[in-house]
Amino acid sequence: MSRIVVVSNRVPLPAGNAGQAGGLAVALLGLMRRRGGLWFGWSGAVSDVTEPSFTRRGAVGYATLDLTEAEHRGFYTGYANGVLWPMLHGLSHLMQFRRQDLESYREVNQRFADRLVPLLKREDLIWVHDYHLLPLPGALRGRGVGLPTGFFLHVPFPAPEAVAVAPGIRGLLKDVLAADLLGFQTEADRENFAAAAITFTPAQRFDQHHLQFGGRQVRLGVFAAEISARDFAATAAVQCHAEPARLLARSLSGQALLLGVDRLDPTKGLPERLEAFGRVLARRPGRDVTFLQIAAPSREEVAAYRDLRQDLDSAGGALNSDHGEPDWTPLRLIARPQARDTVAGFMRLARVGLVTPLRDGMNLVAKEYIAAQDPADPGVLVLSRFAGAAAQLQDALLVNPHDVEAMAEAVLQALDMPLGERQARWRACWAAIAGASPEGWGEAFLRALSPEALAALPVAGRA
Ligand code: ADP
Ligand code: F6P
Repeated sequence: MSRIVVVSNRVPLPAGNAGQAGGLAVALLGLMRRRGGLWFGWSGAVSDVTEPSFTRRGAVGYATLDLTEAEHRGFYTGYANGVLWPMLHGLSHLMQFRRQDLESYREVNQRFADRLVPLLKREDLIWVHDYHLLPLPGALRGRGVGLPTGFFLHVPFPAPEAVAVAPGIRGLLKDVLAADLLGFQTEADRENFAAAAITFTPAQRFDQHHLQFGGRQVRLGVFAAEISARDFAATAAVQCHAEPARLLARSLSGQALLLGVDRLDPTKGLPERLEAFGRVLARRPGRDVTFLQIAAPSREEVAAYRDLRQDLDSAGGALNSDHGEPDWTPLRLIARPQARDTVAGFMRLARVGLVTPLRDGMNLVAKEYIAAQDPADPGVLVLSRFAGAAAQLQDALLVNPHDVEAMAEAVLQALDMPLGERQARWRACWAAIAGASPEGWGEAFLRALSPEALAALPVAGRA
């Protein structure tokens, strides 16, 4: 069997930089632990050390590089999270472009390629992840690497006119087209990518699943990221009796719990969610609900994230001072990550799960909330139409997160929903995720990247 080489900016090292909440690590950890292989990327540290560090846990070897302060500022904070992230989520008004950040982004990708090439073996399959590393497939081919190379985009891909606003994007699209297989979360993302590739590069559409570029076929696939729903369900069933969940339940004194769990990120629609909750309180004065929003700080070097933290603190304070009583605060806003197991227990207690991003590639929290429910007495998921997960979880209460009144109505509907309807909706959502796993997701991608699958490409096959 081929060795898998995963390349991602964020690497959940065994020694514990994994406190960083995020979908990528959750999606890949199980697969890597089971299959083994090499995981290459950023160590999470900022220093002037240029040599990679190596460590191993079980069958997984980790090779990581520190970023210099300038690289962290330019590559990670500046271009990846200050330009690509907002653009890919349709929030281009948050973009802050500086030409030197784009240079740094390109250079870090070249440096990753330089350091990765000597570690590669003849039978390897290379799997590159996410928007931080768009140039990497091109950088590897430029160094003569002919190994099967796949790229998966964890975030959404918007329509060509939205893509066009990111300076430098044309070159990056050409670079990523050096991969053999490009994977997306949804069909809409795949179609948008194909349209952008045709608009901004010489690529041509060959058929639904292939582009032709530089005399080669590039396969396009849809691979919705998954969680281990059954494992998460089992964890939630245990954790809802553990100390943190018991304390939370006791503090509620019978009130219904509304729960949000997110990274503190402008894409997650947190201000709109708080506003919707304010309208719920205005229309339901019985003091019988509490909203717990857990928002793990993320990318605090980026101005938009710092501004968001301030806005949330102030909106949360206003909400409690407007609606609170001497013996009751309706909102609990926790800006710290919580252990994933603890979160699973909280999810099972929650009558309503609020997952209302303005835009999201997939959103694993939506799947986790469904998995965590008690089938006999499930809560209701209020889910943004603009999360990739909505394509699978059609029986959630789907909302437009820009319409705060409609979100408030959905919450009220969820709070009053009869048991029979809650069960029916939950069963349909559960059926959509119960059989899936991150390992299955990863294996499907790796099968499509196998030399046999690539040899079956239409026309000339790989160059
Ligand atoms: P993203 O990749 O944008 O962070 P996802 O919803 O796909 O969003 O994945 C987030 C993962 O990180 C989930 O497994 C979720 O449980 C976890 N997570 C997100 N926010 C928190 C938090 N505040 N505390 C603990 N875990 C969190
Ligand atoms: O899922 C999107 C993503 O950007 C992942 O690539 C990343 O691991 C996660 O969100 C958390 O972001 P960061 O690595 O910037 O902390």
